[in-house]
Amino acid sequence: MALLGLLVLSLFHVSLVGSHTSSKHAPSPPQPAGEQSPEGSDNLSFPWSRLRLPRYIIPLHYDLHLHPNLTSLSFTGTVQIQIDVQNNTNWVVLHSKGLKISKATILDQNLTHLSDKVLPVLHHPSHEQIGIFSPRVLSSGRKYFLCIEFGAELAEGFYGFYKSTYRTSTGETRTLASTHFEPTSARMAFPCFDEPNFKANFTVRIKRNPEFISLSNMPIVKTVEVGDGLLEDQFDVSVKMSTYLVAFVVCDFKSVTATTSSGVQVSIYASPEKWQQTSYALEVAVKMLDFYDEYFNIHYPLPKQDLIAIPDFESGAMENWGLTTYRETSLLYDPLTSSISDKLWITMVIGHELAHQWFGNLVTMEWWNDIWLNEGFARYMEYISVEATYPDLKVEEYLLHTCFAAVGSDSLNSSRPISSPAENPTQINQMFDTASYDKGACVLHMLRHFLTDDVFQRGIVRYLRKYSYKNALNQDLWDSLANTCSEEDFISGKHCYSSSQASKNAYLFAGEHLDLTAMMNTWILQKGIPLVTVTRKGPHLLLRQDRFLRTVLPSDPLWSSVQKGFLWHIPLTYKTDASNTIHRHLMTTQTDSIHIGEEVSWVKVNTDMTGYYVVHYEDGGWDKMTKLLRQNHTALSYKDRTQLIHNAFQLVTAGHLSLDKGLDLIGYLQLETHNVPLLQGLGSLQAFYHMIEKRNEIDVTRKLRMHILRFFRAVIDQQTWSDGGSVSERRLRSELLSLACHLDDPPCLERARQSFKDWLQSKGTLNLPTDVAETVFSVGAQEDHGWASLLHTYNISSSAALKGKILFALTCSRDTNKLHRLLELGLEGKVIRSQDLSSLIFMVARNPQGNRLAWNFVKKNWDTLVQRFQLGSFCIRSIIIGTTGHFSSPEELAEVQLFFESIKEQASQLRAAQVALDNVQKNVRWFQRNLETLRNWLNQQM
Ligand code: BES
Ligand code: ZN
Repeated sequence: MALLGLLVLSLFHVSLVGSHTSSKHAPSPPQPAGEQSPEGSDNLSFPWSRLRLPRYIIPLHYDLHLHPNLTSLSFTGTVQIQIDVQNNTNWVVLHSKGLKISKATILDQNLTHLSDKVLPVLHHPSHEQIGIFSPRVLSSGRKYFLCIEFGAELAEGFYGFYKSTYRTSTGETRTLASTHFEPTSARMAFPCFDEPNFKANFTVRIKRNPEFISLSNMPIVKTVEVGDGLLEDQFDVSVKMSTYLVAFVVCDFKSVTATTSSGVQVSIYASPEKWQQTSYALEVAVKMLDFYDEYFNIHYPLPKQDLIAIPDFESGAMENWGLTTYRETSLLYDPLTSSISDKLWITMVIGHELAHQWFGNLVTMEWWNDIWLNEGFARYMEYISVEATYPDLKVEEYLLHTCFAAVGSDSLNSSRPISSPAENPTQINQMFDTASYDKGACVLHMLRHFLTDDVFQRGIVRYLRKYSYKNALNQDLWDSLANTCSEEDFISGKHCYSSSQASKNAYLFAGEHLDLTAMMNTWILQKGIPLVTVTRKGPHLLLRQDRFLRTVLPSDPLWSSVQKGFLWHIPLTYKTDASNTIHRHLMTTQTDSIHIGEEVSWVKVNTDMTGYYVVHYEDGGWDKMTKLLRQNHTALSYKDRTQLIHNAFQLVTAGHLSLDKGLDLIGYLQLETHNVPLLQGLGSLQAFYHMIEKRNEIDVTRKLRMHILRFFRAVIDQQTWSDGGSVSERRLRSELLSLACHLDDPPCLERARQSFKDWLQSKGTLNLPTDVAETVFSVGAQEDHGWASLLHTYNISSSAALKGKILFALTCSRDTNKLHRLLELGLEGKVIRSQDLSSLIFMVARNPQGNRLAWNFVKKNWDTLVQRFQLGSFCIRSIIIGTTGHFSSPEELAEVQLFFESIKEQASQLRAAQVALDNVQKNVRWFQRNLETLRNWLNQQM
């Protein structure tokens, strides 16, 4: 009986909180109130209590008229939405946020008003919904037109229909209006059914003054005069799409245009004085669209693609269909001031947003819990597309870092599964994180390697075709990837599954039967990353998998509870000295063993890090790796070497490997000639340095600095202060010289000072080599006059790339007054735009002199920051994690806890708060465990 009671209770619980994705689960509509109208709207109460809209009214088509006024900074509009009613009801519930609704009416199919009165509109502000009451029942199976008139101020922040400004070289300020809707801000610009699976067609019309232009997702079909000296642009009807992808801009920008092989018109828009910086983006966008057309084997379906640089833009870029929007630094390449890293960034961002035109726009996740289906794919496609279109950029050298970023957050207890519930806007916003992007991409990389490139590509093409203009779930992706029917079968509409063919094709690991869904669920529905511990036993390699955590040791009482229930299906790969073969083994149990033979002397597991797991070599296994690297490091690929270094220091933090063993492992780096492992090793030391220099450990700090400079002396001395060489060489140079000067290396400082002097003498007109400019500025910023000149140049420069470098340099000052001034300028938002405030805070916090300053600034201005950026935004996250990231003492930990306690209501909604605490805790333990070891190790090196 008790058992039955429990069961009933738990079932009840499930049905209350259960998924809303299926219409089966939607509650029935509010009962029709009959043909009589109620006495007045005062008697009506809001008819809907859920965050997600009812499923029985489906929007089919939006006719949207907008009239933004760039002088009064407001807009008015009307929207006529054709709806399909699937249950009798008197209510239409849809989204609206901050809009003043002046009138709502409903018309039937014949365009006859259902009521001669204006309809009552009820508001539910905390759910960002309105309910429109129709006295006449809307009948199931019929279609109606819902007409709403509305208006609002142009938004002040970065969401909805918002205002942006820029200054011309003559000092005039010009205004534009642009949109950013993802994930839940379309409702700020017009009333709509603002959920990704309410796809509809959109016809947009925009009124404007003749000196402006307007842009939207589709091309303009006609422009008419509408009186008062105004013009109205009418855009072509869109394809079926989600509301978050709708976009429009009114501005006075100029553009350049080219055409893809299949005839798509591609244009880059920027403010008039920046159009010289648009040609690289144009070349990239055309190449990318051609590439994706072919790779996805589906033509980009719109006649045009506009890419526009918006002067005020919170994130990096946004994939609105046919009108992608970018931060200036993500689109504009200035040959005189953009570095090789800037160029790579622009190429990858365009590759990312254009990948979304298929992954996200054509096929959209059913709900925000699976935003990884958009973002993980787009991030991964950055690598595939840039590799294919710009091989010289060597983008594959960066893929490992995407995986390392994922490992970083996934090895903290605060991590989450890639697919996690998200209902309200704050939760939904926080889904755009490392799990969705980087872990998503890294798990796809593992899957692609597991299935082979060819099967992976054919699987995703199948997925994109089958779900075009629709929404998809994870399961749909796995089914498409596992379905190995021929293309002919597919085109003829047959959807078949053949497991025998599947194993023949691709599953080199698994033999006859492979349950792809079961395997992928362990990566998508389960948080964390596995640690595979390997031990040699005669001819066998013994394997064990545990959850890898950097904050909890096996000796910790918490250990067993945080390990419980975790198991992954791991596609293992390994190489030995016996041959060049990459061996494969699918590990689905907690312990396992593989036969490798007696004669093998070393085994390297997770070849080229094509798998998402950390490896620990027990029983002297790491000593063997150290020896191998010293004797013959090229026996392993550069990716293997890079991964070993990363892996070793992860294990050090987690307490599985002692710090001196990690440091010994990178001792071979003096022989290393490949920039990726070199930078990985350097980066590990640099990370320790950044933490230690903020502590009162003067002696260790000094010795670590001397060690780094001595150890990398030869390679630092080889660097030239120029932009010459291959992409890899340029990147290495840029990083090495930046570190050397940061560590006060006298030759580096001297050279930088000289260059800075030349730059000052030219009154800022000299173009420094782009890859070292930031370092030169950082050294120059140490003098009062240099700092002031840089701030002046920052203020007048028309190159976002140059401004980025200068801002970084300004934050390197050791003068706290100057750092404080920067933060105030950022808060003010004039000289330093608000869009740059979160990275400014991050950069100030990175500076030992600015660390506490930044933290105190955030605490003091917390309310303003949240108001400006929204609680769940990427900016708030980066502010929290950026300012606490280097804290490493128990006192600092307590202080962070205290602050979160004081903003409990908000902190409890913020994943970043948990991440920050985990992170500081990890640093505290790192110091407790490793400071003495480091001190001793450094003493031995002296
Ligand atoms: N879809 C996102 C933009 C976005 C980010 C919307 C956060 C809502 C919340 C876009 O495709 C994106 O991922 N932009 C990145 C840049 C890109 C290169 C990864 C961004 O803005 O950081
Ligand atoms: Zn994206």
